[in-house]
Amino acid sequence: MASNGAFKLAIIGAGGISNAHAAGVKANSQKLAISAVIDPIPANRTKLATDHAAEQFDSVDSFLAARAGGKAQADGVVVCTPPSARIQIIEKCLKAGLHVLAEKPIAHHLADAKKLAEMVQQYPKLVTALAYCHRFTPGVVEMKKLTAGGKIGKLTRFENCFATYFPALREKWMSDPAVSGGGSFIDTGCHSLDLFLFLVGTPKMQACVKEFAWEGRGESSATAIVKSAVQGSIYPGVGGVILSGWMEPDRFTVSLVGTEGTLSYDYLKPTELVFQSSRGGAAEVLTVETHEVRFAKQLLAFAEAAQTGNRGVLASFAEGVLTAEAVDAVGRG
Ligand SMILES: NC(=O)c1ccc[n+]([C@@H]2O[C@H](COP(=O)([O-])OP(=O)(O)OC[C@H]3O[C@@H](n4cnc5c(N)ncnc54)[C@H](O)[C@@H]3O)[C@@H](O)[C@H]2O)c1
Repeated sequence: MASNGAFKLAIIGAGGISNAHAAGVKANSQKLAISAVIDPIPANRTKLATDHAAEQFDSVDSFLAARAGGKAQADGVVVCTPPSARIQIIEKCLKAGLHVLAEKPIAHHLADAKKLAEMVQQYPKLVTALAYCHRFTPGVVEMKKLTAGGKIGKLTRFENCFATYFPALREKWMSDPAVSGGGSFIDTGCHSLDLFLFLVGTPKMQACVKEFAWEGRGESSATAIVKSAVQGSIYPGVGGVILSGWMEPDRFTVSLVGTEGTLSYDYLKPTELVFQSSRGGAAEVLTVETHEVRFAKQLLAFAEAAQTGNRGVLASFAEGVLTAEAVDAVGRG
């Protein structure tokens, strides 16, 4: 805990997504602080560390050594490295007594996912969670609540598309299966699978068609159908359509379809949750807080879990294995 009472975070991996977490910290500086930034690339770590007056380190080992010697502080870490680099980092941080929030997906393949889920069980006093941030999107939270309250009648389908036009990904680690585990499906499809898990139930893969725009790289798009498991699902036996893509127009939408109507959230209309009754008539537009707050809400939940033991809706590593199993079920080809 920082002297002002803020929960101290070390950011491990100061690339793209670390900026979203850093903005969440800035917006909640009474409760959260970045105390250390760890990244082998000097330009990346220096920018973030300077902005937050944090200590900087070129490796997790040097950070943990400094912390053990009283020269660095942290209550928890946010692991924002590519997936293939994470398992050793998480193990070292847990051994050092640090709470861990790790970016999605849990790992680049199922074997590491299972190893991680087993490993975190050895540290029951530490909070371990996966950064499936869409659980903290206010429109999604409201959709879950309204569906439980019967607004759309009987749930019949989940529909989710996270797609964008990003040809530069061909050259980045995200499309290198050795580092990321695949392509668009493990990258954004894992978010969709976790949303399905959060809103509907355990996703069991039924079918998946992938498109490969780039020779030797992971899939550039995927069209998947899942069904919620009979055991352990909020709504058993419900179908879901999951679309991911890197070479198509931007679409970021999630809908729950029921016998009485549909609730739809479009990330490009961030404050609107739309209800359309099955009986027709004008759509009802419900005002919700923007999805941009999801990273801040997730970090606050992480800090609260460490301080009070109340995990809220933070995704567990065991849940991460359920999404990893669905990704693994369709292989890499
Ligand atoms: N929640 C979301 O919406 C969301 C969005 C984008 C990315 N992500 C996830 O966040 C993770 C990082 O993605 P990104 O887009 O920020 O990637 P990135 O390539 O922009 O950044 C990764 C950073 O990690 C650093 N790094 C690599 N190995 C390291 C190590 N051993 N120790 C410390 N730092 C190391 C790199 O130098 C780089 O600065 C991925 O798992 C990705 O799937 C999540």
